[in-house]
Formats: sequence, C-alpha cells, structure tokens
Amino acid sequence: MNKQVQQKETPKVVKGLEGIYVATTEISLVDGENGRLYYRGYDIRELEANGTYEETAHLLWYGKLPNKKEYDTICKRLINYRFLPDNLLQMLHLLPQGTVPITAMRTFISALAAWDPWAEDNSRDAELENAMRLTSGIASLLAKIHRIRTRQPMVEPRLDLNHATNFLYMFHGKDPSPEAAKAMDSFLILYADHGFNASTFTARVTASTLSDMYSAITAALGALKGPLHGGAMEAAMRQFQEIGSPENVEPWFRKAMEEKRRIMGIGHRVYKTFDPRARILKERARALAEQSSEPQWFEIAEKLEQLALSHPYFQERRLYPNVDYYGALVVYYLGIPPEFYTIMFALSRVAGWAAHVIEQHADNRLIRPRALYVGPEPRPYVPLEERS
Ligand code: CMC
Repeated sequence: MNKQVQQKETPKVVKGLEGIYVATTEISLVDGENGRLYYRGYDIRELEANGTYEETAHLLWYGKLPNKKEYDTICKRLINYRFLPDNLLQMLHLLPQGTVPITAMRTFISALAAWDPWAEDNSRDAELENAMRLTSGIASLLAKIHRIRTRQPMVEPRLDLNHATNFLYMFHGKDPSPEAAKAMDSFLILYADHGFNASTFTARVTASTLSDMYSAITAALGALKGPLHGGAMEAAMRQFQEIGSPENVEPWFRKAMEEKRRIMGIGHRVYKTFDPRARILKERARALAEQSSEPQWFEIAEKLEQLALSHPYFQERRLYPNVDYYGALVVYYLGIPPEFYTIMFALSRVAGWAAHVIEQHADNRLIRPRALYVGPEPRPYVPLEERS
C-alpha cells in the first residue's frame, strides 16, 4: 500500500518544514539573508532605539503605532492587569517548591483563563483584551513565582512604572537603575515577535482549531521550553558558566569542537548572518557588564564568538550568534537566575503569540498537514493468545 500511495501522490516530505511557507502574515518579517527584522514594516533597530514595549505590543496587536491617546490607554489597561486574582495567587503556593519555573508558568497561564470572563470569546475585541491580560499577567506571575521560590515576600505592582521597570521592581523588590530598566525594555522589544518560529506556529495550530487564546499560549509555552528554541538562552548562560573564565575559552572551544558539541546561542534556521537582535543585545550586555562586578561573562561570550566566527566550521555553515547568545547575558546582568530565562523569552513573546492568534482567527483555516506513512503494510490482527 505504501508504494501505491507514494506513486499516486508523489509527496515530498520536508523535515522540520524547513523553507516551507504555510501561511501569510502581516506581523513580522524575518530577513535571514540580510540580518534584518521588521515588525509590521518597522525595523526593530528603530523601535528599540526610540520606542517602548507597550508601543511595540500596540503595533503588533493593532497593526499601527499608537498615537498619544492610544498609548496612554494601552498603558493604563496593561497596568490594570498587573493585579492577579486572589485565588490564583493562592494557587501559586500549591506547586512543589522545586517546580521548574516554565512548568509553573505553563500551569498558571492556563489557570488564568478561569478568571477571565472573555477567555472563551474569540472575537477580536475580546482577544485584544485577553492579549493585554496575558501580557501583564505573565510578568506579574513570573515575579511572584520567583519570590515564592526564594521565600521572599510578594511585591505589589506599582502604577507609576512602565511594563519593563515594574517587572524588575516586582522581581527584585527595589527600583532598577535607569540602564537596567532600558535594557529590560530593549530585551522585551527585541523578543516580541519572530515569524513562524516553533512556539508561534504551535500557537497558530492551536488557534486554528478555533480553540481560545489561553490554550494557544499555553501550548506555545510548551513548545518554547525545548533547548532548541526558548531553552537555548538558559543553555547559553550555563555554557558560559561552564567555561568559567576568559582564559578557559580557547581550551573549552577546542574540546567542544573535538566532541562535536553544539555551541548554544549560535546558529539559526533563518538567519545566515548575524541576528540583528544579537547585535543590539550585545551592546546592551556590554554596557551592563561594564557596570557589573562580574564583567567576565561578557568577556567569555565575546571571546567564544570570535573563536567561532573565525573557525571554518562555523563560516562554511554560516553560523552566527542568535538572539539568545547575548540575550542570556542581558538577563543575567539584570539579576535574573538562569532557570527563569525561558520565561523571560515568553514575557516578551506573549505579545507576538497573541497577535498571531488574532491574525489566525481573523482568517482561519484549520492547520492540518499530512505525514507520509512509512509503517508496516496492512496485516491481519492476531488474537493475543496466538502471538509468540
Ligand atoms: N554549534 C555547532 N554546530 C552547529 C550549531 C551550533 N550551535 N548549529 C548548527 N550547527 C551545525 C549542525 O551540526 C549542522 O552541521 P552539518 O551540516 O555538518 O550536519 C549544520 O550546522 C546545520 O545545522 P542544523 O541543525 O541542520 O540547522 P537547523 O536550522 O536545524 O538548526 C538551530 C538551527 C538553532 C536549532 C541550531 O543552529 C542549534 O541547535 N543552535 C543551538 C541552539 C540555539 O542556539 N537555539 C536558539 C535558536 S534562536 C532562538 C529561537 O528561535 O528560539
């Protein structure tokens, strides 16, 4: 039967869907050859230099940068959603102390739906509201999960701070420096959307069944968790920590090459040049490192990058640092422990996921590809007692 099916349809299997276009989108353009990224036509370099995460979220959700009135409105609505339902806050204490943070987040984002009166409503207006609730909610949840894990008192959200600054305030329980607040905002802007990456595609597949935004984003969190996607940031930081000192970079790199290990934070399915986000985050990390008592992590990363980029193996395969390479250092210098890095990614990407759910629902078609069957030919069922 296999041969017959194959002959009749001559299907071509593209593993990992590499290079396959499965939809159109107006949300972001990833120009992998030139190392550029645009959100709805705006270069991320300009957005990062001049804008805020709130503006970026508005751009992703509404398709346009907000005017002053719209900006004030979105900021106020995001602030309102910083406060989580009391019963959900009680639930946060119920998971075992050592629960992996992204596992906890996946659970609580799903649970948040239970307190959202519009959770089951897939209309555009309801989804815009849910996007805001999720974007603020994930930041408050992350800060609270950290405070519980480290047995520190919860910190109430502030109404006078922007999204990035308020998050750092709730996480650490003190005002961040202006440089840290700006680095956090940059990080959020740069991670906000990135075409049909694995977690976004997962969100869209889920949304395409006409499931709701919370389900789509819970599913996206599951896809993000893996070390080939959102887990790479933590893996990159742990790799720098394993190297330990700038002097050890060269021997470590030589051994890694001998053992054919992957350098975490390097390589990308779409970028065949320097990831534009990595360039910006590198400078943010450099600035934070200069003010830090631990500048060695930046030195290690930069030295490893230089070794990799000058090595024929990486040159031939066009492998360059991706967003997670220097993203890891930025969040390290912001005082975030590595086990939270995947959620830091989600803290920003939630805006993109929500935009994609809205776009999917606006012109839905069930995403249902096919797999080429290569299993056994049809065969008769053998009763249990007759099987050898
Ligand atoms: N270190 C060493 N070799 C590598 C690396 C790396 N980081 N990345 C790719 N290669 C090699 C790979 O072994 C293969 O070599 P060969 O042709 O001899 O078999 C070649 O480059 C192509 O690799 P691939 O795995 O076929 O490429 P891909 O498009 O499937 O993988 C990737 C992309 C990001 C999964 C991969 O580069 C990788 O594993 N990087 C490390 C993990 C990482 O940093 N992930 C974050 C991705 S960016 C953020 C995000 O989207 O979440």
